[in-house]
Amino acid sequence: MENLMSKIVSLAKRRGFVYQNSEIYGGINGVWDLGPLGTLLANNLKQEWWRSMVFKRDDVVGLDSSILSHPRVWEASGHLKSFTDPLIECKICHGRFRADHKKEIEEHAKTHKEPSFTDVKQFNLMFKTFMGPLDNEEHKTYLRPETAQGIFINFENVISSTRVKIPFGIAQIGKGFRNEITTGNFLFRVREFEMMELEFFVKPGTDRDWYEYWKKERLKWYLNLGIKKENIRIEELPKEDVAHYSRGTSEIWYNWPFMGFGELEGIANRGDYDLSQHSKFSGHELAYFDEEENTRFTPYVIEPSVGVGRLILAFLIDAYKEEEKRVVLKLHPGLSPVKVAVFPLLSNKLPLAKLAKDIYDNLKKQINGVVSYDDRGNIGKRYFSQDEIGTPFCVTVDFQSLKDKTVTVRDRDSMKQERIKIKDLNIYLQNNLEGKIDA
Ligand code: GAP
Repeated sequence: MENLMSKIVSLAKRRGFVYQNSEIYGGINGVWDLGPLGTLLANNLKQEWWRSMVFKRDDVVGLDSSILSHPRVWEASGHLKSFTDPLIECKICHGRFRADHKKEIEEHAKTHKEPSFTDVKQFNLMFKTFMGPLDNEEHKTYLRPETAQGIFINFENVISSTRVKIPFGIAQIGKGFRNEITTGNFLFRVREFEMMELEFFVKPGTDRDWYEYWKKERLKWYLNLGIKKENIRIEELPKEDVAHYSRGTSEIWYNWPFMGFGELEGIANRGDYDLSQHSKFSGHELAYFDEEENTRFTPYVIEPSVGVGRLILAFLIDAYKEEEKRVVLKLHPGLSPVKVAVFPLLSNKLPLAKLAKDIYDNLKKQINGVVSYDDRGNIGKRYFSQDEIGTPFCVTVDFQSLKDKTVTVRDRDSMKQERIKIKDLNIYLQNNLEGKIDA
């Protein structure tokens, strides 16, 4: 299984999905960059999330709040006090570990022949910085560790500038920063990552039902996007394992090759914790007035939240397949970085190349995503190269194309080829690419 991870890390680098940040300087722990294909995959994942959370619903609006905010936000949210992980230090080499990562500690103990460790202390994961030209305590602030607080502090703005009525949600995609004690497993635990968060505000008393609703909705999203049923499940966390703001948390678990089932996404019932805290700390009451019932109350909030990098990792692992003569990423077509590749059978035959280029130019205008053109090497190599990055369809222009205005379309998964009329190609591809998304 370790082997599978190293193959994925190597494919990700070789084909331009993920690079180690600052690699020419020896790299930096827990910070990764997305290459050209990784950027496309991330955008497709974010688009699918946004489509399901915002476009397809009439009760969710979007927001894009800043990474920096008033430091009081983090006092109110409880992050300054409670956003901590238990830390221990090896007394021999001063290596630091998360006290709850027993396996790492045991491994470390072996390398030093039974070292002793310091007592557990709480380590705050917030990244600190200074605002303005003075770098003193007074000007200290933080990079956000979650995007959610940007939603809570804009709660009233959204209510007064839109026509939302409870129950309603605010969705946001943006960067978060956590000074994790230990990073690792590629994109699984990093220090800078993009998050996709929905805060869904509901009337107290209806929160249990909405919590159950969002658990089901989110699980469905993964299954619709092709994650294998046997690799995903949902788990309710025991009370002692939930975050300081939570009245109940479930996690969507993925079957990671390096640890077995573990967290991919969190779904929390945050109650009225955040709005109440901000009301208290700002002196500005954040509440909702229900016109029909003539009542004022502080809503509860249900929050599905997931990291984009962790999603990329899960989808790459799930899609990766080695077959007899090829490696193939069986990604859902909606997620594939390149949607269609066009090849002339031979590159040096002018009429073939010209027809292939015309088809390529035409598809580029029509297909909602990247279309690529490849005339290098032989057809077998080109298929291999497209399979490895998960391109769902390859279109080949051959001599018959010149005669009867048809091309072959090869399906990535079945490897079957079909002859399609050039005039029907666009519709055929669109139906097969987009038609599958809501299957
Ligand atoms: N606002 C809720 C929240 O922040 P969380 O469970 O701490 O909850 C949400 O984080 C999601 O963000 C996780 O389920 C995971 O997908 C992702 N995530 C958290 N820490 C991460 C890290 N260090 N590296 C990569 N992804 C991370």
